[in-house]
Amino acid sequence: MAQIEWRAPQLSMKTLENYERTSGNCVGRNGRVIDVGTGTGLSGIAIRQVGFTGDIDALEPSKSMFEKAKEKNIYSRYYSDFLIENKETTVTGDAYDLVVSVGVFSNRSVRSQCLCEVIRMAKPGALVVILMVKNWYKSADFSDALKKIEKDKVANLAHLEEFEGIFEGHDAVGFVLEKL
Ligand SMILES: C[S@@+](CC[C@H](N)C(=O)[O-])C[C@H]1O[C@@H](n2cnc3c(N)ncnc32)[C@H](O)[C@@H]1O
Repeated sequence: MAQIEWRAPQLSMKTLENYERTSGNCVGRNGRVIDVGTGTGLSGIAIRQVGFTGDIDALEPSKSMFEKAKEKNIYSRYYSDFLIENKETTVTGDAYDLVVSVGVFSNRSVRSQCLCEVIRMAKPGALVVILMVKNWYKSADFSDALKKIEKDKVANLAHLEEFEGIFEGHDAVGFVLEKL
């Protein structure tokens, strides 16, 4: 059976690069990065491919997934936490120059309430890049969470783009949040 090509990690970095090009705000490539929901490390590979040379830390609750990610020799530090609604992980706050999360937010495992926790990991002024299924992004639940984040001045939605047919035929969105 033909393998489905998983393009989401590359598209998350395309989202970042398009944001950088249109805003003129470029993220230093030697900063600290965390890959939230690392899986087997494909998102880490995509982060390296766009030039990030510094530490990339990993948050991944599945030990078997992370064992595969480790073989890729990308990650510096491993957090085995779950993102859970209204609960902080053990990741230090205000610590990262870039937070990336690819294919993790959904209406099943990681819901919109966990957005605040992912933003908490970023340094003030740093970016959070998320790639997720478009339908979930468009849901009232997610859109309310984003509105609240902007209203509470936690972060601004700075860039958004759409990609066709990424997750089993579903369209995806990639977006960039600027932490305030
Ligand atoms: C579709 S995979 C994406 C993996 C990787 N980011 C990539 O693009 O290749 C989603 C990942 O989210 C992780 N995940 C699921 N629930 C999670 C949670 N509550 N907190 C953190 N990660 C979670 C899964 O273990 C899985 O590795």
